[in-house]
Amino acid sequence: MFLKLNKRIEKIKPYIPGKPEEVLQRELGVERIIKLASNENPLGTSPRAIDAIKGETEKSYFYPDDTYYSLKNKLSKYYNVPDEWIILGSGSVELIKMAASLVLDEGKYAIVSKNSFLMYEKVVQEFAGEEYILWVDTTDNYEYDLKGFEKELNSGKNISILFIANPNNPTGSYIPAEELYSFLKKVPDNILIILDEAYVEYADAEDYKSGLEWVKEFPNLFLLRTLSKAYGLAGLRVGVGVAQRELLEALMKVRLPFNVSRLASVAAEAAIEDKDFLELSFKTNKKGKEFLFEELTKIGFKVFPSQTNFLMFIPTVDPIELVKKLEKKGIILRPLGPFGIPDAVRITIGTMEQNKIFIDSLKEILKEF
Ligand SMILES: Cc1ncc(COP(=O)(O)O)c(C=O)c1O
Repeated sequence: MFLKLNKRIEKIKPYIPGKPEEVLQRELGVERIIKLASNENPLGTSPRAIDAIKGETEKSYFYPDDTYYSLKNKLSKYYNVPDEWIILGSGSVELIKMAASLVLDEGKYAIVSKNSFLMYEKVVQEFAGEEYILWVDTTDNYEYDLKGFEKELNSGKNISILFIANPNNPTGSYIPAEELYSFLKKVPDNILIILDEAYVEYADAEDYKSGLEWVKEFPNLFLLRTLSKAYGLAGLRVGVGVAQRELLEALMKVRLPFNVSRLASVAAEAAIEDKDFLELSFKTNKKGKEFLFEELTKIGFKVFPSQTNFLMFIPTVDPIELVKKLEKKGIILRPLGPFGIPDAVRITIGTMEQNKIFIDSLKEILKEF
C-alpha cells in the first residue's frame, strides 16, 4: 500500500454482504434468481412508497430538507416520541458507526456478542481497535448471554459502549423484555447502549417488547430501527435512531448533511403509513417461516426458532457445498462462517412460491450428497 494507513484501518476486512442477485446472474447467466441472503422484503417495495418516489423524482436536483421535518414529524407520531429525539441515517448501519465514533478511542472498550451483526465488530475495529472488543459468547442455543455482558461490565475495564441486537441477526433469537430491562438498569450511565431493533416488526413472542419506551428512562440508550426490512426500502437506505436530547445532540455533531436522500425520505414517509403493506409483510413472513421451519426439520436439519424474517439452520451436509449447489440453481443463501457459526446457514423467508422452489431444489440437491 502506497499510503500509510491508520494502523487500526489496516487490520479491518471489508464487509462482505450477501451475494447480490446481479452478481450471480452474471456468473451463471440464469434468468431466475431467488435471493434469500440479506433479509430483504420478498414482497418488494410498498406501492405507496413507489408512488411517492415517482412524484418526487423531478425535485432530485434539490438537496433534501436537512431537518427532515416532515419525516421526523411522522416518525414521532408513529413511535410516540418527541421529534427532537429522532435522528436519521443512511440505513441504520450509518447510525451504528456514528454512535461508535462518539465514544470509542484507543483504550476504551466495547462489549460485543459473538454470533451477532457484523457491523458492531467493524466499527469498534475502526474507532478503537480489535483488541478493545470484549467478546461475549452466546449460549448453547446461540442466544445473547446478558450474564456474560454483566461479567464484562464488572471487569473494571474502561468500557464505553455495548451492542445488543434484539431480535438478533443471524440467529433469529430474542431477549425477553424483563431480562433485557433488568440488564439495562445495571448499565452505568456513562456507557452507551446500542439497542438494534432491525427486525422488531416481525417479532411476536409474548415476552418480547421493543425498547422504545425505555428510551425515556435511560439517557444512554440509543435505539435503532430500519426501513430496510419490513418496510421494503433496503435499496433506499433509511435508518432511524431514537435517543434523549443530550445524546441526540452529540450524534448530530457527527452526522453528514443530507445523509438521507430526498427520494429515500419521501419513500420512508409513505412506507410508514402503508399499514396494509406492513401487515401483509408480517403475515407472509409468519406463514413462510412456519412452512420452512417444518420442511427443514422434516428433512433432518436443525432449525432454530426465529423472531425475525429469516431462519438459521444446521444442515446434515457440508453447508458451503450446499450453498454452492443452491447457487447453481439460482438460489442465494448466506453461509454463517463469517458470523462465527461455520456449521450453519441463514435463509431469508421468501414468498410462498420462493419457499417452495427452495425446498424442492434442496430435496433434489440432497440426493447428490
Ligand atoms: C441487526 C441488524 N442491524 C442493522 C442492519 C442494517 O440495516 P440497514 O443499514 O439497512 O438499516 C441489519 C441488516 O442486515 C441487521 O441485521
